[in-house]
Amino acid sequence: MKEWLNKIESADSTEILESLRVETLGKKGILTLEFSKLKDIPNTEKKAFAQNLNEQKSLINTALEIRKEVLVQIELDKELEAEKIDVTKFNNSLSCGAVHPVIDTMDRVITYFQNLNFAVEEGQLVEDDFHNFEALNLPKHHPARDMQDTFYNKDYTLLRTHTSPVQIRTMLKQSIPIRMIAPGTVFRKDFDITHTPMFHQIEALVVDKADKISFANLKHVLEEFLHHMFGDVEVRFRPSFFPFTEPSAEVDISCVFCEGKGCRVCSQTGWIEILGCGIVDENVFKAVGYENVSGYAFGVGIERLAMLIHNIGDLRSLFESDLRLLGQFK
Ligand code: DAH
Repeated sequence: MKEWLNKIESADSTEILESLRVETLGKKGILTLEFSKLKDIPNTEKKAFAQNLNEQKSLINTALEIRKEVLVQIELDKELEAEKIDVTKFNNSLSCGAVHPVIDTMDRVITYFQNLNFAVEEGQLVEDDFHNFEALNLPKHHPARDMQDTFYNKDYTLLRTHTSPVQIRTMLKQSIPIRMIAPGTVFRKDFDITHTPMFHQIEALVVDKADKISFANLKHVLEEFLHHMFGDVEVRFRPSFFPFTEPSAEVDISCVFCEGKGCRVCSQTGWIEILGCGIVDENVFKAVGYENVSGYAFGVGIERLAMLIHNIGDLRSLFESDLRLLGQFK
């Protein structure tokens, strides 16, 4: 008996344990065979004989149960250990994507201005006439509205044609001083080598008390910004017109491809137009109820920056999701 109990206690798998159970308590097990001898035992001894066998049976049963519990746990632990997945292990065969050059350029511009303490405002893609045109000094029938081919919705809302309406939304919800940029998507009915119906802009607006903000401030910020983006280029301001700024200017940099000598990209002029800017027009301040303030604004197209930084010839290729192009920006 002792021998069987020892065997059970030292069984090292549930399989061995099961065979020990069969050998002792199974149909042909030794204890079962002992029980079958009961009928030949004289009546007077039957009770003691049966009692003894039952005690042995219960000892073996208990030993089997205790050992089984231990072995099941050990085997489960082993199984879990074998199936363990190291989620931190790096799989070299996985190919990672790259940040899209437009988003990457946008992030660089945002970070630059965030470091100068500009807040980031989002605005909304579906705009109304007031924010997109009217408040920006583009009244109905103003010829400048023709400059922008607008996607109108049935309910008189429209897809914003520029990020300038975020100026209006910010001034309406906030008071001076304002120092903000508004990066985002804009939409126009345009499609050729230099235009796509959806593209990205970053608008900037700085407003403070009257006479505090001057064109000199604007000029300095833009020169620093363009040198940060393009390195050692020349920057020039050309008088221009925008309804929402007066005076207005367009800013050019010396061509990054030919260094100002004249090439195909700069149409032999040596200069590349990069953004529009100016001193905020009084009518814009009037539309949002601001008095005795001064400010500057500018708006820059992100695709144009990305194309110049990465030497991309056709704007449309930025939106074709061609992995041969995008894979180069890892
Ligand atoms: N909103 C103009 C456009 O989409 C860009 C622009 C020009 C923004 C001059 C300005 C600005 O804030 O002062 O072409």
